[in-house]
Parts: sequence; C-alpha cells; structure tokens
Amino acid sequence: MRIGVLTGGGDCPGLNAAIRSLVRKATVVHSDTVIGFLDAWDGVLEGNWMDLTVEATRGTIGVGGTILGTRRGSPLDHEGGPEAVTARMAELDLDAMVVIGGNGSLTVASILHERIGLPVVGLPKTIDNDVVGTDVTFGFATAVQTATDAIDRLRTTAESHDRCIVVEVMGREAGWIALHAGIAGGATAILVPERRFDIEEVIRLVGARHSRHNHASLVVVAEGALPVEGSMPVPNYGVDEFGHVRLGGIAHAVAAEIEKRSGLETRVTQLGLVQRGGSPVAADRILGTRLGSAAVDALHDGDVGVMAGICHNDIIRVPLAEVAGRTRLLDMSLYDEIAEVFFG
Ligand code: F6P
Repeated sequence: MRIGVLTGGGDCPGLNAAIRSLVRKATVVHSDTVIGFLDAWDGVLEGNWMDLTVEATRGTIGVGGTILGTRRGSPLDHEGGPEAVTARMAELDLDAMVVIGGNGSLTVASILHERIGLPVVGLPKTIDNDVVGTDVTFGFATAVQTATDAIDRLRTTAESHDRCIVVEVMGREAGWIALHAGIAGGATAILVPERRFDIEEVIRLVGARHSRHNHASLVVVAEGALPVEGSMPVPNYGVDEFGHVRLGGIAHAVAAEIEKRSGLETRVTQLGLVQRGGSPVAADRILGTRLGSAAVDALHDGDVGVMAGICHNDIIRVPLAEVAGRTRLLDMSLYDEIAEVFFG
C-alpha cells in the first residue's frame, strides 16, 4: 500500500510520535510506502512531500511540533481544490491518506471523503481536547502539564507580593485545559466557556482567600470564557484570514475588573503558544503512538472515512461524518463536583 500523511491546523506535542508510529507500523509490519505532505494541504496542492521512512522519523518521539510542518486552510478554500487532491493521489499512486488534525482538518477530511471518495483515516490531535468521538486527543496532556507548571510558578511570586494573578489558557470554545490545569494547580476560581461567569462571585472567592491570610489567589480563565451578559466589558475579538475568531485577552478584562472593584493588586499572565510548544509528556507520546498504529490497522482493514480514537482506553473507529463540524465541550460534572469544591 502507498500512504500519504499530513498534519493540519495548529501544531501540538505528540504529532511526531503519531507520524513515527504510523511509519514504523506501515513500513516494517506491512512493507508499505509512506510519504508526508509538507505544510498540510498546501503540500498536496503544490506537490511538496518527503519520503517517510524509519530513518526519517528516528529520534522524533520526544520532539514537539511536526516534522511535516502545518498550516490552516484546505483544498475547500480553492476552486477545483478537491479535484486537485484526486489528481495528486493518482499522480503519486497513493492508495490512502492519513489526516492528523483537529476539528477543522477532520471536517475537511470528512467532506473530501464524501465528495471525492478520498480514502482517508483521521487522527485526533489538539491541545484543546475538543474532538467528538474520542475521550482524549494527543497534545492535551502536555498543554495541561505546561499550564499547571506555570500556575505553580505564578503561585510563589503571587504569595510573596499578596497578589491576585489571572492566568489565561487556550482551548477555544472548550474549557478542558482551564478545568484540568485549574484543578491540578489549585485555582481559586476557574472560568470556562461552557458557563458564563459572574465577576462579583469571582471577586468574592478571591477576597475570601486573601482574608484568610492566604497571600495568593490564582484565577484560571479559558480564552473563550465570557461573563454574564452586560456585567463587565469584554474584548473585541477580531477574525483571522480564515474567518475564525481570534481569541485572547479576556484575562486582562477580568483582572481589570477584580482590581477596580476589590482594590487588590491583580496581574495577568497569558500563557499563549507556550502551551502548544515543547516536548510531549509521556501520555501524549503513548497516545500518538497508539493512534498512529491504529490508523494503519484501519487502512489495512479497508476501513476508511473513519477517525481512530480512544474510548475507555480502547482504540475505536468513528465515522468522520460523526466528528465533522462538531465540538466536544466539557462535561460540567467534573466542574461542579470536583473543581468548585476547592474554589476560594
Ligand atoms: O486549536 C489550538 C489553538 O492553540 C487554540 O487553543 C487557540 O485558540 C488557537 O489554536 C490559536 O491559533 P493560532 O495558531 O492561529 O494562534
């Protein structure tokens, strides 16, 4: 079999582990040939690719980012794009594609499977952990660890100065990183997109903490979190070149409000892209390795138009059509029953 692979959307830790695993399983176990398209769909449309061999992927399991490069955007953004994908597959004599991506890339893979019959298997990657059809995505565990480490560091400086620090984490419309890092870091309050927050309640929690002579409060806010409508100013978000809202900045609004209404010195740390970079933690290396191998299994079973995911620690296959265009939001029971107990 001849297999093409690409990584699409934002990078995350664990991508190289998945590529390495897929290559090893395909070439060593099945004597397949694997090529990697460079810079996501751009490489397919422009004909830029590299041979992926065991040699080419050696030493990459612990390396962050993606050795293939990545871009946002897809063939659906161009007239004749889907047909160009078919032509490239034929030119390179490819039997199948593996698309490693988040919601955007997996939606594109699903549409191409339906529209041009692309024989494709998807793998779920993203720090946001918001892909439907899998319990977890690779990249998430590393982002949570990075954010938790940052909260730990911020706590010691906040304690020294008797300050409140508002830490903003990524995650788009989902609060997975905020909730997990907030629990692990012992946050005073966690603000997630799934539930509008009451700024007066946040101030009450912060105030309660400092009045007990705890000289630090850490408020973890997801970039997509929003206050109760009309209760305080919110940032004016712009859109990127693909029309996606570019989030970031809610922490400044929250901090300004806390300081103004309570008088407590309040600082902001926006963690930003540091959450996407660096070496994957062991859990992401293992998940990427399991799913890379699972993609090859699916292809050799003739099972295409699916995503390989994880359910209760077992590998599963889910139709891409069930994943496409959807976002997996938080199960709020973890927030209500565990996280909130430690607030204040
Ligand atoms: O989807 C991953 C993610 O890191 C989001 O958490 C964040 O909103 C977005 O990507 C940022 O993307 P960009 O690379 O365009 O800044």
